[in-house]
Amino acid sequence: MVPFSNTDASFSGLIISVVTNTIRSYVRREGRFTRAQRNAFDKYWDKYGVEFNCAKTDLDTLFNRHAPKIMDIGTGMGDATIEMATAHPENDYLAVEVHRPGVGSLLKQIETRQLNNIRVFNHDVIEILTYQIPDNSLDIVYIFFPDPWPKKRHHKRRLINHKLLDCLMNCLKANARIFIATDWEDYARHILEIFETKSGFINLSGAGRYAPRPRWRPNTKFEQKGKNLNHCVWDLVFACRK
Ligand SMILES: C[S@@+](CC[C@H](N)C(=O)[O-])C[C@H]1O[C@@H](n2cnc3c(N)ncnc32)[C@H](O)[C@@H]1O
Repeated sequence: MVPFSNTDASFSGLIISVVTNTIRSYVRREGRFTRAQRNAFDKYWDKYGVEFNCAKTDLDTLFNRHAPKIMDIGTGMGDATIEMATAHPENDYLAVEVHRPGVGSLLKQIETRQLNNIRVFNHDVIEILTYQIPDNSLDIVYIFFPDPWPKKRHHKRRLINHKLLDCLMNCLKANARIFIATDWEDYARHILEIFETKSGFINLSGAGRYAPRPRWRPNTKFEQKGKNLNHCVWDLVFACRK
């Protein structure tokens, strides 16, 4: 087990994971942690939360069943995860979020709806994919509205980069799908470009093209924020060929 506080180093103002030697895609600002979120975190973490550790976790054992495994990366307040898991009780969802107020909000909603098909990880997804998720174990990955880091000097913090793709390639099953949505055009272009450099990922819309919005994708708070700023949304879907 690697305790979180010992896995970061600060270098030139960037937070770097000592464990995976990568720049973090987030800053650890807690923001507003409401009493309800904190209470839910304290009360339900043991029931639905999964502690980070460096041993591979058997996913069927985690959910007590064999079912498709879907990882939702950066769940924010968790509303979209809740909507999808409620609509699809036949699937198991691994919700990954570093922001504790968001995790508290998600845990509260899981308990209120008594959902058995969500487990929550409160840790950096790069470390989770590197150490905890077994190879060839995920059927689908969602990355909806990853932090855009719009300033050029911050682009190195963007979550979707070569390291993430290498981790996903190991953890995804053959023919698994990755669904991404962003409201930042230059990030969308960057995503197209880096997936195209990696053999093993196929753009299901054709090289250089975006996908139609999946009808089942919930409208999230971040998407709404972007729309309020008149941003368009770009969807991307890739398949993993092994
Ligand atoms: C812009 S929000 C989008 C939330 C949600 N998907 C939505 O569409 O409403 C991006 C989220 O990703 C989380 N995040 C960023 N980097 C992460 C990482 N390396 N591991 C896990 N979560 C991360 C952030 O804390 C943030 O809540």
